[in-house]
Amino acid sequence: MTGLPGASPWSRLRLRQTPHLRNLTDEVGFTTSHLIQPIFVGDQVEARREVDGLGDNARMNLAAALDQVARDVDAGVRHFLLFPVPAAKTPRPSTFDFLRGVIAAIKDAHGQDLHLWVDLCLCAWTTHGHCAILDDRRRLDVPASLDALGAMAVAAADAGVDGVAPSDMMDGRTRHLRVSLDAAGHDRVPIMSYSTKFASQFYGPFRDAAGSAPGEGDRRHYQIDVRSRTDAIESSRRCAAEGADLLMVKPGLTSLDLIAPIALATGKLVGAYQVSGEYASLVALADRGLGRFDEMLLETWQVFRRAGAGFIITYGARRARALGVAP
Ligand code: PBG
Repeated sequence: MTGLPGASPWSRLRLRQTPHLRNLTDEVGFTTSHLIQPIFVGDQVEARREVDGLGDNARMNLAAALDQVARDVDAGVRHFLLFPVPAAKTPRPSTFDFLRGVIAAIKDAHGQDLHLWVDLCLCAWTTHGHCAILDDRRRLDVPASLDALGAMAVAAADAGVDGVAPSDMMDGRTRHLRVSLDAAGHDRVPIMSYSTKFASQFYGPFRDAAGSAPGEGDRRHYQIDVRSRTDAIESSRRCAAEGADLLMVKPGLTSLDLIAPIALATGKLVGAYQVSGEYASLVALADRGLGRFDEMLLETWQVFRRAGAGFIITYGARRARALGVAP
């Protein structure tokens, strides 16, 4: 016995005994509106192309995507993160008509019933699969990349997108996007910056889905090194100073320790992206009978919330209501 007043073998167990007590002490409560569902839309003929490892997440053509979004809205999804996957690639993307068409079609069908974010990056549009335009010595051409991203943001906003999410990691892109959007009359469109995005092996299934694996080299010269806490926090601080409305860590599980420090350093809401490899690891465990998928998924979301995440981008958002997440 510890000598605490009334200390008994129940001193720690007392509040864990019943669902009512466990629910009362739930500090992570969240709703389906805190979750964002990614969708991959390609200009392909086939309706759905499965993505290895990502369960029921597929790359869809526009018609199939519209069906999927309608079902997802019925299932309680309110936020979507669109990844356009154009078939035609160029070294210097400059026009984004495919993106406009997809956004306009989704917003025409659903209006304000959903909030449509679009991922802004060049990797699905470039022949080499890097997130930037390269110069003739294959180095990052940052000014040219910013111009292309600005044009993409304005095209998306003209088509009616509700928010933009730059994921490219070029220096200065958040300010450039804010200025470009404002100049085009889109000063109400929020920016959710991928502000702390690490170079990671956990993006594997995504690169297949988005057709964006770099043809040569890797992304370590523009994404953050997992060993640097300083760069991780500074990168989010800079995005906040440049006008980001929402911040994000990515991958989520390997960045849990950074969520609270970034929120403190910036005063901004910080979300977590449960990336394709994290989600696929749960799918793989469940496929081998080593865990119950939905319970593992819910557990990871609860942990993101416990770590201080405001919102969660997850390939399982459409399952949330069936898992008992409140609307
Ligand atoms: C585009 C982008 C990537 C992801 C989101 N936006 C891939 C990358 O940076 O290589 C990864 C998402 C995921 O793995 O689920 N730059």
